[in-house]
Amino acid sequence: MYKFTEEQLMIRDMVREFTANEIEPRDRAMDENGFDWDLIPKLVDAGLMAIHMPEEYGGGGGDTITSEIVINEIAKGSASIALFLDAHWLAADMILLHGTEEQKKKYVPLCAEGKVFAFGLTESNAGSDAAAIKSVAEKQPDGSYILNGGKAWITNSGIADYYLIMAKTDPTAGNKGISVFIVPKEAEGLTVGKFEKKMGMRGSGTCELSFDNIKLPADALVGPEGRGFMIAMQALDGARISIGAIASGLMQHAMDKAIKYAKERVTFGKPIYKHQAVGFKFADMAAKIRATDLMIWDTCAMKDSGVRFSTEAAELKLLASRWACEVCDDCIQIHGGNGYSREFDVERFYRDAKLLEIGEGTSEILRMVISGAVIGR
Ligand code: CAA
Repeated sequence: MYKFTEEQLMIRDMVREFTANEIEPRDRAMDENGFDWDLIPKLVDAGLMAIHMPEEYGGGGGDTITSEIVINEIAKGSASIALFLDAHWLAADMILLHGTEEQKKKYVPLCAEGKVFAFGLTESNAGSDAAAIKSVAEKQPDGSYILNGGKAWITNSGIADYYLIMAKTDPTAGNKGISVFIVPKEAEGLTVGKFEKKMGMRGSGTCELSFDNIKLPADALVGPEGRGFMIAMQALDGARISIGAIASGLMQHAMDKAIKYAKERVTFGKPIYKHQAVGFKFADMAAKIRATDLMIWDTCAMKDSGVRFSTEAAELKLLASRWACEVCDDCIQIHGGNGYSREFDVERFYRDAKLLEIGEGTSEILRMVISGAVIGR
């Protein structure tokens, strides 16, 4: 049995209440209208924007488990807002882990204060093959850089205050020629496109970015020049745990709705959960949620202990994202015709779940990571 500390339990209960009061009631409207900006000050007041970041930089001082408890609880009310937080941390953690002391002092406190960060790796022609990106940051004689190119499918774009952009500083060096830069939303030459009309996760912002001769100072570089690919891959390992935590929360959210419905809906003289065909679906759902949870907390513990967890995070995301699609599908089936209607929420959960098999490493990429590790062992 995985035991949370007293403090983690307190945070879990606080976030559960916050989600029920502030997040879950907005999820359906965000599906129609997009991200709800009112949530940012509320997340700041609840101390959630930087809960796992060190107190010396204005964070909450929590560990990885605490941060994933937060993501998991929020996903029980809105997968989109859990994704928003995941992408914010994916980007900001690169500064925390690889930035200079000056960068940490400047940017990390901003996270706690409600400035939003976004992670910019994917381009319209380079998603899974991340080393094939074409954006270029050309070093100038004075040490500054000129950034050109663009990005696509960037979660939190259009909302973010700061973008952590991966670009080639040496286009001849493959993955060893990629570096990471902090680009503020006001940067001259940065254009943020229209919000994408997405199938799901519609409460999170996703736009295209284009870079036209953006001048970046030398201290916009995060980590050593040429290490950007490795920094991004490590960051994605952590974010894949968050996708597992979102999947678990989303499954729970869908199952709770379906249980309520199955108790109310009567067919052939009894509530439908009493028909084995329906009741057994809940058994499968519960087993999938528990297995996901165990993988989440175990992989978090690996991360906090400092061992490499790339394979385990990939395994977690691979299974959890598939199970989330299966559970949400079952929940629609339990609702019958009503499940196909926007009024009953579960169709939204199904649309949200599908993103989990694509974003932050498709299932096919995860299988490459896992099979490479297993066969190599
Ligand atoms: N941790 C540390 N190092 C790693 C690593 C990891 N997780 N993964 C790879 N590396 C290292 C390798 O050890 C290797 O180092 P050496 O060259 O010194 O041996 C180097 O990086 C290159 O690795 P590969 O040879 O495996 O690289 P590759 O080009 O074959 O690609 C890949 C590997 C796993 C397929 C990678 O391209 C990948 O993960 N692709 C998916 C990218 C992805 O998840 N994109 C989604 C981004 S999310 C987004 O942009 C939207 C958003 O808003 C969040």
